[in-house]
Amino acid sequence: MSAIGRPRKVTRICSPRLTARSVSLSDRLSSRTPTSLVFTQPPWAHRGVPIILATVPTPTSTEPSFSTKEPVRLDIPAHLRPSDGRFGAGPSKVRSDAVAALAGAAPTYLGTSHRQAGVRSMVRRLRDGLAELFALPGGYQVVLGNGGTTAFWDAITFGLIERRSQHLSFGEFSSRFAAAAAAAPHLEEPEVIQSPFGTHPEPVTSAEVDLYALTHNETSTGVAMPVTRPANSDGLVAVDATSAAGGLRVDPSQFDVYYFAPQKCFASDGGLWVALMSPDALDRVAKINASRRWVPASLDLSIAIDNSAKDQTYNTLALATLYLFVHQLEWMLANGGLEWAASRCDRSADALYGWAERSDFATPFVAQPEQRSHVVGTIDLDSAIDAAAVAAVLRANGIVDTEPYRKLGRNQLRVAMYPAIDPEDVSALCDCIDYVVGALSS
Ligand SMILES: Cc1ncc(COP(=O)(O)O)c(C=O)c1O
Repeated sequence: MSAIGRPRKVTRICSPRLTARSVSLSDRLSSRTPTSLVFTQPPWAHRGVPIILATVPTPTSTEPSFSTKEPVRLDIPAHLRPSDGRFGAGPSKVRSDAVAALAGAAPTYLGTSHRQAGVRSMVRRLRDGLAELFALPGGYQVVLGNGGTTAFWDAITFGLIERRSQHLSFGEFSSRFAAAAAAAPHLEEPEVIQSPFGTHPEPVTSAEVDLYALTHNETSTGVAMPVTRPANSDGLVAVDATSAAGGLRVDPSQFDVYYFAPQKCFASDGGLWVALMSPDALDRVAKINASRRWVPASLDLSIAIDNSAKDQTYNTLALATLYLFVHQLEWMLANGGLEWAASRCDRSADALYGWAERSDFATPFVAQPEQRSHVVGTIDLDSAIDAAAVAAVLRANGIVDTEPYRKLGRNQLRVAMYPAIDPEDVSALCDCIDYVVGALSS
């Protein structure tokens, strides 16, 4: 039944051991609704999204006891500094070798038609390389299009969710997709399962949903979760792997759609989306297409699937992004593939979390070690130390983008550990933080 015209609400399930009660949007807007309840929301709750009430704990404030407005002038000794100072969660470090190769290829590649062999052969290398990296079973297809992951969420709401989805919401990005599904007038209200910040919830098998929306790595909080199909479920499993793909291990039999953008582990620029799609996912797209649901052409997955099979995109793609993406992918494959890349991230994570565990002023934000991401680490600092001041000093020394996700509001540093980032540089960063904190405290 069409959901158009119905008061929209989200069924929200809180886990673990949290109680929830659901209210419709009109309840929320009603003056009878106590405002103290209405605002029990995570910081990434979006305007216009039918967020319902839940007793999700507000994070303990780790606001510093002092704040430094101007960056303190402090030179970090050269011998402590990392060889490359880029630790941003995305866009992230692009390897200099890839940039040099792009410059070399530019005269015959950049500025040429994306419908001709030069560019289409790069799309082919991308599709073949991803199938190899992820060991995709027969029948899976690598599909790509423009607009990055955010556009792909909209493509899913049009082309993959038949009636109702279930979302695990545990940070900014997972909640944004839940919001997109909740706002789609042709879909029923999604089930949303959330857990406290710094943890992840588990999916719950439900006969009511036809797509489970998981997030392999929640970039805003530094929480990673295993990709596993809910037991005895028929629904498609669609996994946001934007910051995970290429850095975390995954078994393709556990997903139907594994989608991402290349500005993170694939060390390229944003603006493109890639989806690894199972035969069931391809069938779902065909089924919805046959139902004649209206879909804007730029978000129409059946058009994207047809074009990708011809090593093209529906509209013009960014050629430099494509080139850097293929370069990084082939670098990973030449070095040993996904296992090699994930092991490199493991080494970085050992360095970062090991240092934080030993430190007397730093603590991993994610309490459970098995939920700590090996591609994006979040480290709380003692309230006596201003993390923003530390990040500012690092930035002034060319060590950039260690600030936390802005809406998380914690006294925290966030460190990307994607495959392009040298584990030795992560260790060097820890030494630099020790140096800066020591100097600021003295
Ligand atoms: C987990 C996750 N999902 C989605 C996005 C949005 O990706 P894009 O900027 O390509 O739309 C991001 C961006 O950081 C992300 O980390």
